[in-house]
Amino acid sequence: MTDMSNENSTGQAMKRMVIGIVVLIVLTALLFFVAPASFYPWAKAIHVIAVISWMAGMLYLPRLFVYHVDAEKGSVQSETFKVMERRLLRGIINPAMILTWVFGLWLAWKVFGFQGGWLHAKIFVVLLLSGVHGYLAGAVRKFAEDRNERPARHWRIVNEIPTLLMIVIVVLVIVKPF
Ligand code: HEM
Repeated sequence: MTDMSNENSTGQAMKRMVIGIVVLIVLTALLFFVAPASFYPWAKAIHVIAVISWMAGMLYLPRLFVYHVDAEKGSVQSETFKVMERRLLRGIINPAMILTWVFGLWLAWKVFGFQGGWLHAKIFVVLLLSGVHGYLAGAVRKFAEDRNERPARHWRIVNEIPTLLMIVIVVLVIVKPF
């Protein structure tokens, strides 16, 4: 019964996410064709909104793992963590990462022609961040199958990595030191 209602609400969350993405794509396409001159600031705004959403999820997910480790396997608490982790990954982190990449690459191409040491360094660090994303997505699967063997200390350390990468990325794009 709990599994069924969890599946239903996950299905609903997925549906809302897909609708949200479709609406955003349609609005973006409209803006692109109707007012191409003001597309640049809008693309940057969407890029920053997506970045904030991606980072929020990337900082929260390992925190959930820290608490999940202490929940007894098969307990209601453990099952609730599984639902929270899956929804966070599929509903926020994955779509936010895709939007960050799409709009970031568009800005990099349209405005900077992929030129600049800071931009190359930034893309490299974002690739590292995307690798951490993949690692966390794998961990969601392991927790869902009760196969996690890492202690809470491991997830506390992993929790710091996105923060460090984010600091480097923001300094690169704002200060543009080289
Ligand atoms: C591969 C992915 C990415 C690419 C290609 C990319 C590229 C860009 C470009 C070209 C700009 C415009 C810079 C300007 O107008 O001066 C920008 C803005 C920005 N990006 Fe990214 N970005 C990516 C991912 C990220 C990530 C992961 C973060 C943060 C964790 C981030 C944070 C920002 C911020 C804060 C701005 C606004 C900077 C400003 O207006 O001065 N970006 N990005």
